[in-house]
Amino acid sequence: MPLMPAVVMERVTRRFPSRGREAGRDIVALDGINLTVAAGGIFGLLGPNGAGKTTLLRLVSTLLLPSRGRVAVMGSDTRRDPEAVRRRIGAVLGGERSVYWRLSGRENLLYAGALHDLPPRVAAGRADELLRMVALTERADDLVERYSSGMRQRLALARALVHDPALLILDEPTAGLDPQAAAEVRTLLAALARDGGRTVLIATHNLDEADRLCGTVAILDRGCLVALDRPDALKARLPADERTSGGATTLEAVFLALTGRSLSAADQPAWPQ
Ligand SMILES: Nc1ncnc2c1ncn2[C@@H]1O[C@H](COP(=O)(O)OP(=O)(O)OP(=O)(O)O)[C@@H](O)[C@H]1O
Ligand SMILES: [Mg+2]
Repeated sequence: MPLMPAVVMERVTRRFPSRGREAGRDIVALDGINLTVAAGGIFGLLGPNGAGKTTLLRLVSTLLLPSRGRVAVMGSDTRRDPEAVRRRIGAVLGGERSVYWRLSGRENLLYAGALHDLPPRVAAGRADELLRMVALTERADDLVERYSSGMRQRLALARALVHDPALLILDEPTAGLDPQAAAEVRTLLAALARDGGRTVLIATHNLDEADRLCGTVAILDRGCLVALDRPDALKARLPADERTSGGATTLEAVFLALTGRSLSAADQPAWPQ
């Protein structure tokens, strides 16, 4: 029997009311998205600022409901059964802000365990195991405010794993990290996706990271899904003369061909002239 998909989105639209001069004209953050994330492996969401990546992750995490359409996570509808969804997912949407800075690393994990109704002895064992996994055992009893940015990101990841979720949802998990810390997080994610059929869903701006880490990538642009495939398949679809960007075949070239814009250029804020 094929595994149930981790996420199914059907004709999902999400609007936000706009304020100020634009009041009355809704912002359409996601526009009729159909998307299936198969169980197991790492799935990457790519797209420029404002494309709708974080909105999509918040919909999957039950933090937002769709304006139209439906979102199912491991077979449970986020509108009808958000509790069932929350039991199966772990999310880090606020980066290092997802942990309490005035508690120690260990206290953060024990608190998260309590929120998930783990008995204290089980939570204590789980905290030890996760602290080891993210290489924070030696700093476990220091306050998080004394951690480095990379340590906080790793703790946030550990916190999201306390209840052993089947789906891990991460918004830009390596943003702001130095190359070595980013590489450590990527190694951890690859290991997490390998064991136990866990699914990892990430949003990233780092095309090279998506290329190396993700089995499948979806490219979003202005709320629409413009491509969905394995990174090598996306690159293979390009005509040979469009395949390179700076000499190498990259997802950047794919993005340019699909949208007419370069992802890095599209990322520049549009300052008023
Ligand atoms: N709570 C909100 N209220 C109003 N508009 C919102 C809200 N959240 C998102 N938006 C708008 O929805 C669109 C998509 O935003 P979203 O944060 O999902 O993009 P993103 O792809 O994550 O961008 P980034 O790469 O900058 O993180 C943007 O136009 C944004 O301004
Ligand atoms: Mg975002």
